[in-house]
Amino acid sequence: MTRRASVVILAAGQGTRMKSALPKVLHEVCGRSLLDWVLDQALALDPERIVVVVGHGADRVRASVEAGPATGRVSFVEQTERKGTGHALQVAAPALGDDPGTVVVLYGDMPALRPTSLQVLVETAQENGDEATALFTAVADDPRGFGRILRDEEGDFAGVREERDCSDEERAIPEVNTGVYAFPGKLLLEALPKLRCDNAQGEYYLTDVPMMLAAAGKPVETVLLEDLDETIGVNDLGHLAEARWVLQLRILEEHLANGVAIEDPATTFIDHGVEIGAGTRVLPCTVIRSGVVIAGGCEVGPFTHLRAGTVLEEGAEVGNFTECKKSVVGAHAKAKHLSYLGDARIGARTNVGAGTIFANYDGTAKHVTEVGEDAFIGSGTIIVAPNTIGRGATTGAGAVVTRGATVGDGETWVGLPARKHAPSKISAAASKVAGDERDA
Ligand code: UD1
Ligand code: CA
Repeated sequence: MTRRASVVILAAGQGTRMKSALPKVLHEVCGRSLLDWVLDQALALDPERIVVVVGHGADRVRASVEAGPATGRVSFVEQTERKGTGHALQVAAPALGDDPGTVVVLYGDMPALRPTSLQVLVETAQENGDEATALFTAVADDPRGFGRILRDEEGDFAGVREERDCSDEERAIPEVNTGVYAFPGKLLLEALPKLRCDNAQGEYYLTDVPMMLAAAGKPVETVLLEDLDETIGVNDLGHLAEARWVLQLRILEEHLANGVAIEDPATTFIDHGVEIGAGTRVLPCTVIRSGVVIAGGCEVGPFTHLRAGTVLEEGAEVGNFTECKKSVVGAHAKAKHLSYLGDARIGARTNVGAGTIFANYDGTAKHVTEVGEDAFIGSGTIIVAPNTIGRGATTGAGAVVTRGATVGDGETWVGLPARKHAPSKISAAASKVAGDERDA
């Protein structure tokens, strides 16, 4: 396990290339912001403190972090002028105190770095003594834009050269700096005031710190990140899509390992923060958003959209162009064709016929519908919420159950507006409609 550590996350940048008003680090991948993924990396180190450097869109970023996975554990510093990565650390320094332990620097736009890799980086620094630094390098397919790693005759780390400051020879070096470091806190704090901005970009480069430390004879270790996916830094929407795919695969692999049968991972979208029990089958072209809980033995899809707040209980089945929002589908209940379940609580074993709509929204507010156990909702029923449909009740095909109606236990309601089925007063045709929909 790692010893004392503090984490600084650089998240001040604007992200111009995203071409979006949203601060870059708040763009979402698999149901959460880039920055939330990075906060998870930080939390895996169980650090003494997490400092987030904010700048562009500071208030929004702060609000988002405060609602994220590190709630209550983060302090913020504001970098009002962006004068480089070294400057960002200079601004963060006072928030680190005098003795921050190992200081880990993360980028708010690198969501795919694995917490386990980060652990290796921190251990590498700490195992080499109190004065050792460690940084991740990668051998990039296309090193363009990255700082190049300079080495001495023995092959030891000698420095990082920013691309714009490289000679032609240096530009040909394939090994690059990923920008993630574990610094000995005391040495970092001593070095930061010494940074100069006499370079091609006129910026204070954080990369000059390991260079200075190496020149002073302090150990600087490099850890090669072999999986280039981990090094993805999101600068545009193309990178965002690439990061999404990498993180999506990891989420799907985890569910597969837990016994969830995902028939076609290529067309299945499951966000971060979805619980699925073993033995559930997820069929193609299905989207499951954060905040959905699915028990074991269920069937979801094909072509199904499950949104936040949805719970499928043991053995429930939802499929074929059905959308569920904030709805509970009881054990072994079914909604298998062309339905919208919004704010519905559906009892065990109830069958929701094809084309049923829970009309939960009146233009201003959302309303709940309760359906009891063993009910039978006929095809094409529209239930205008709020509403209660009793245990064992039936609605006829095409029934429109109007707002506030209460369908009693075991009753059959038919028509538009739906009313209690009284065979003596209703036409034979209508009663036939009510009875014909048993096989949804
Ligand atoms: C930096 C490294 C480079 C490395 C690359 C990896 C330096 C000088 N160079 O370059 O060696 O290969 O990352 O991606 O560090 N940021 C702030 N405040 C600032 C400047 C940047 O918060 O004043 C944040 C940005 O929002 C971003 C991160 O720091 O998340 C990196 O900044 P960026 O300007 O993209 O660094 P590079 O020039 O790419
Ligand atoms: Ca830059």
